[in-house]
Amino acid sequence: MVVSSGSWRADFERLWEQLAPIGRSASGGYYRLAWTEADLACREWFVATAAGLGLEVEEDGNGNQWAWWGTPGPGALVTGSHLDSVPGGGAYDGPLGVVSAFLAVDRLRAAGARPEPAVAVVNFTDEEGGRFGLACAGSRLMTASIPPERLLARRDPDGVTLADAMARAGRDPAACGPDDARVARIGTFVELHVEQGRQLVDLDVPVGVATAVWPHGRWRVDFAGRGDHAGTTRLADRRDPVLPLAHTVIAARRAAMERDAVATVGRLATVPGATNAIASRATAWLDARAGTAEAARRVVADVEAAARRAGAHHHVEVSLEEESWSGGADFDLGLRARLAAAVKDRLGTVAELPTGAGHDAAILAARVPSAMLFVRNPTGTSHDPAEHAELDDCLAGVDALTAVLEALR
Ligand code: GLV
Ligand code: MN
Ligand code: MN
Repeated sequence: MVVSSGSWRADFERLWEQLAPIGRSASGGYYRLAWTEADLACREWFVATAAGLGLEVEEDGNGNQWAWWGTPGPGALVTGSHLDSVPGGGAYDGPLGVVSAFLAVDRLRAAGARPEPAVAVVNFTDEEGGRFGLACAGSRLMTASIPPERLLARRDPDGVTLADAMARAGRDPAACGPDDARVARIGTFVELHVEQGRQLVDLDVPVGVATAVWPHGRWRVDFAGRGDHAGTTRLADRRDPVLPLAHTVIAARRAAMERDAVATVGRLATVPGATNAIASRATAWLDARAGTAEAARRVVADVEAAARRAGAHHHVEVSLEEESWSGGADFDLGLRARLAAAVKDRLGTVAELPTGAGHDAAILAARVPSAMLFVRNPTGTSHDPAEHAELDDCLAGVDALTAVLEALR
């Protein structure tokens, strides 16, 4: 299968249609969690698409896939994103960057460019951390920002460890870990991504350049109470863990407002989870983000204090554990300027914007010059099936990425 048909619109539509059914639920949300059947099907699509373009595919020890145009070597220009999704996510978060990367490389080649330095399309493993809780697992392992043993022992909600999930998918978990030689080969990384807000809609611009990624993290808050009968246990005798959990959710909102941050509890669990039983345990997962690491950490400290106070009041034990922390990134000013100039040249206009969403580019930025392009999302919604980008804007994104790759060679 060769991608180029002579019509970039038809090429985009064909690749998009190939990916569209993979992991889509009846409600339209995507479930492409790391190392599940759907993730493996996306990986097969990556291999087939790369082969159709005549690119050399390899998968590194951390499960990241690379499709090379030219001989891998120092100064390589790398572009791509991820193919996994959050549970019930949209179609564009991740895949838009991978599809656009393949098409941009194909366009460069069709325009007679040579792969010097080499260009690679990448699919980073488990960017969302939707199964094992750590965001950007593949890029973090590669760049040595987390020890593999800590991550491999993590369990999904069914109790399967990452090590077992990789082994079941035919991968060797012992191969996970820092990959300095690979990182050293990357000259520049550029990630194109659907915008996950409404800034480009408000500015009426199809493509933007990222200025910064906000620091953000995830915390697991456990409440241990005492299970009992919902009908016979007097209110005064209860140790109901859901009550301090409820206080904690409200405290997160209040702390975010006070600290000019955002905080979310989007996942909850109770044990045993029966309508007619007081829970014995309850868990809330907190996501907190802010313009500075200090503000995000303050939000978490405020929430923890509120959870402990409410726990003491209701005779419930409270513990808090950090599951994921990303320090965010201020993208390199010089590189940003080069992206903005290339996009403006090609599209006539460009905007610069920060984001509260996390990305592999922010992890890579600690080790190699990295940058991002955003494509307008008319709904402004993301991590939800309503996430969208118009075809014309997607094509403008491919155009912009092609211009950027040209400019950076
Ligand atoms: C990933 O998209 C995140 O921002 O959590
Ligand atoms: Mn996402
Ligand atoms: Mn993403």
